[in-house]
Amino acid sequence: MTTHAEVVVLPDHAAATREAAERVARAAGAATAERSAAHMALAGGTTPRDLYALLATPPYRERIEWPRVHLYQTDERLAPVSSPESNIGMIESTLVARVPLPADNVHMFAVGSFDVGGIARHYERVLVHHLGDPPRFDLVLLGLGADAHTASLFPGSDALRPSARLALPAVAMDATTRQRVTLTPRAINAARAVLFLVTGAGKAEAVRTVLDGEVDPLRYPAQIVRPENGALTFVLDEDAARLLPS
Ligand code: 6PG
Repeated sequence: MTTHAEVVVLPDHAAATREAAERVARAAGAATAERSAAHMALAGGTTPRDLYALLATPPYRERIEWPRVHLYQTDERLAPVSSPESNIGMIESTLVARVPLPADNVHMFAVGSFDVGGIARHYERVLVHHLGDPPRFDLVLLGLGADAHTASLFPGSDALRPSARLALPAVAMDATTRQRVTLTPRAINAARAVLFLVTGAGKAEAVRTVLDGEVDPLRYPAQIVRPENGALTFVLDEDAARLLPS
């Protein structure tokens, strides 16, 4: 078992989502108290939809000091914001549109403004401007694919190789929009805290491999997430955790 990660198992998706919301609220509270702002990077995909919706409802809507929160993305698909594939569209509709977050505090990939290389370079400038190089996020939220990818770091991806870059173009290997842009491991691993939210039986094999299987980050990209000076937590439901040693 990977010893550097805290693993928390909840009975079901709803309970895991509540646990993640509690941890997000605590991280935001600590960051705003200590540094007067909370910089958080949000995962895409479908798992965190309920989490973002929960953060936009009581008690979290009132508990989190949204005017002091800055939201970023871990990765994006090059799809129109109106597309169901768009992580920006999902984050906007489930969270940003429902909390008192200043528009200047929302830092999404500039999809549609540049080509994919330009989007990545533009985002690096945004990250360095707000957080320095490497950017020290207070919290990075990640999901996990059934192939053990995370963000848009897919098996065999060049973005997994050591690099000074903070964001890079990527190519998806699952059924979603192929052209992507993603934070690099360097950007993710500089965070104060990284939280994986993973639910459902379809992720059980990936969870087992990442936490307790052969160590090979090029094949199992989520294994590359090891914050140098930060906490790593996996919030799982029982279905996703069912192949872990008891
Ligand atoms: C994305 C995500 C990606 C996601 C996993 C799991 O844009 O697809 O950032 O890394 O977290 O693919 O996706 P689900 O939550 O939809 O299973």
